[in-house]
Amino acid sequence: MIRLVVDTDPGVDDAHAIMAAAAYPDARIEAVTTVKGNVSLERTTANACTILDVMGINAPIYAGCEQALVAESGGAEGFHGADGLGDSAYPPSPRKVEAEHAVHALIRLANAEPGALTLVALGPLTNLALALRLDPTLPRKYRRLVVMGGAIRSMGNTTLTAEFNFHADPEAAAIILRDWTPLTLVSWETTVEHPFSEAQVKALLAHDSPRAEFLRRISQGALTFLEHLFGRPTMLEPDLLAMAAALEPEIVRRKATHHVAVELSGALTRGQTCVDWYGMSGKQPNVELALEMNTERVWELLQAALI
Ligand code: RIB
Ligand code: CA
Repeated sequence: MIRLVVDTDPGVDDAHAIMAAAAYPDARIEAVTTVKGNVSLERTTANACTILDVMGINAPIYAGCEQALVAESGGAEGFHGADGLGDSAYPPSPRKVEAEHAVHALIRLANAEPGALTLVALGPLTNLALALRLDPTLPRKYRRLVVMGGAIRSMGNTTLTAEFNFHADPEAAAIILRDWTPLTLVSWETTVEHPFSEAQVKALLAHDSPRAEFLRRISQGALTFLEHLFGRPTMLEPDLLAMAAALEPEIVRRKATHHVAVELSGALTRGQTCVDWYGMSGKQPNVELALEMNTERVWELLQAALI
């Protein structure tokens, strides 16, 4: 049984990732921690409640940081909708969020059961960076950390060179990449290289179930955005790919470990992921990069959540 802690900023693709994890027979979502990212902390937390309601999961939800450590960056409402779930206007969840702050929960959960929990980070790394500063032993106490973030060839989706999660809180990303080893990183370029096909998207949308209806309602805006961008129906799934890598590591068909750092000061490059592809820095390789993944299997994991 894979026991998951999910740090997230839902977010349409965050929702897909959490749905797949919730439906995965050999995994259990032990806790969800939320962070400001795609939309405000208030919205990401409300969205996490709605997603768990739809999936019938009783895991506790802990609200985290409503600001980045230093950055004052915007959200991604243009893609995820003003409410963060495709402006799907689901009624507020009756679910109660825990009083404990997400950062304290991340520390407490790992110390309560060292080596038992897999941490999957799907948004800006603010919560994880603060937790690591309060308890530097966390990397030894979480079984594994999988992160969605970064643009490993500097093909940014937010600035020319930076991916959204790393750009939203570059200091937090720099702290985690430097001081939380090992970790597995699913990047933006890997996301773009593993899109769902038109047929796969159509099959997902064709299901007749409340969960499928939820997926349709929250995803339509994103699908329209991507069809305009690419000229054909497709879906990019950054967070679902990261979750899939946590659920079934063999889904990553090719990986490589390199030294990776985050630029903090460049006028054009703040938040850039800097990969030492040729080992020139002399620094210890610290990040396992997921480079090729089994997209068909990733798609099956989301399919299974819609039945
Ligand atoms: O760049 C993609 C990442 O930014 C994903 O986690 C998406 O949800 C947004 O948060
Ligand atoms: Ca996300």
